[in-house]
Amino acid sequence: MSLKEIQNNMEYQKVILDQRLRYYEPNGERVYKTFADEISNSLRSNQKSINPKFFYDEKGSNLFEKICALPEYYLTNAEISILNQLDNKISSHLDGDFRLVELGSGSSTKTRILIQILESLQTYVEYIPIDISRILKTSSRILQSDFKRLNITGIIDEYESGLKFLKYYDTKKNLIIFLGSSFGNFDLEDGSKFLSEINSAMKKDDLFLIGLDLVKDKKILECAYNDSEGITAQFNLNILSRINSELGGNFDLQKFRHHAVYNEDQNKIEMYLRSIDRQTISIPQADLTLNLEKDELIHTENSQKFTISNIKQISEKAGFEIKDMWYDEKQYFAMILLSKND
Ligand code: AVJ
Repeated sequence: MSLKEIQNNMEYQKVILDQRLRYYEPNGERVYKTFADEISNSLRSNQKSINPKFFYDEKGSNLFEKICALPEYYLTNAEISILNQLDNKISSHLDGDFRLVELGSGSSTKTRILIQILESLQTYVEYIPIDISRILKTSSRILQSDFKRLNITGIIDEYESGLKFLKYYDTKKNLIIFLGSSFGNFDLEDGSKFLSEINSAMKKDDLFLIGLDLVKDKKILECAYNDSEGITAQFNLNILSRINSELGGNFDLQKFRHHAVYNEDQNKIEMYLRSIDRQTISIPQADLTLNLEKDELIHTENSQKFTISNIKQISEKAGFEIKDMWYDEKQYFAMILLSKND
């Protein structure tokens, strides 16, 4: 398939902002499930839940930035410390020019370290963030003004569609990155499906770098999700404010408590909102009256933790070969470099 055909088939529209910044956006035709649809379904099922992707409105994104700076939330610093030592370790894997493709649209320290590594190895660096959120436009602007030689092409779409689009884009090699253990939000089945989709969207010489949080002492894990300043609690509760403001809900945030526990059988942090009373909430725009028992839990997030043998197993199953694996000093976090195994 040619790029033109893909552009037509998938109905992308190219928007050029200036010489070094442009983005592709799907035309209006595609239908996404709305916030209201999804909330309406997930709050009606037996175990009530809210998808963690809804955490990230503007306030939620800011709260998440604060979480990353918390002393208890070791993930961010551990990953940054690995990245800071990566330049001479990853360069042997990068023969020829690579373009940086990020799932999510970072303008953060982590993205910057990788751009700097590529800038030190090649004369021309291109960066393609793929993100469903329009935040992409803001974060790209910030990066563009800080890196004068950087060329940015954003794809405003879901990861899978964005990657598929990229596969037929041209013949350049891609270094795809998925940082922060965001992959941990998937359950095992969806996660393995997602990895296979990334694999099949990759060309033969593309590389995939993924950051994953490792299994460790339960106390350390639970502290990371129950910080002493209560920022994680605010982050969790904010999803209810979002339902209030966007869907006309009447949640009283005082009547819910943040609850995060480590499930040792399944190696994952589970996050919930606990209703402290029996109560009824109405969410008119989701066409829903929600009855909650005292102490009933609404599930809001899973954060899977991995062992080395898990990582080997899921990588292999999705058709990857492990090229290299790096850890921070405490071995809290791992970054894995993968290529297509064929
Ligand atoms: C962005 C999904 C990796 O699971 O650690 C942080 C989100 N939730 N604190 C994680 C999160 C509570 C974070 N991820």
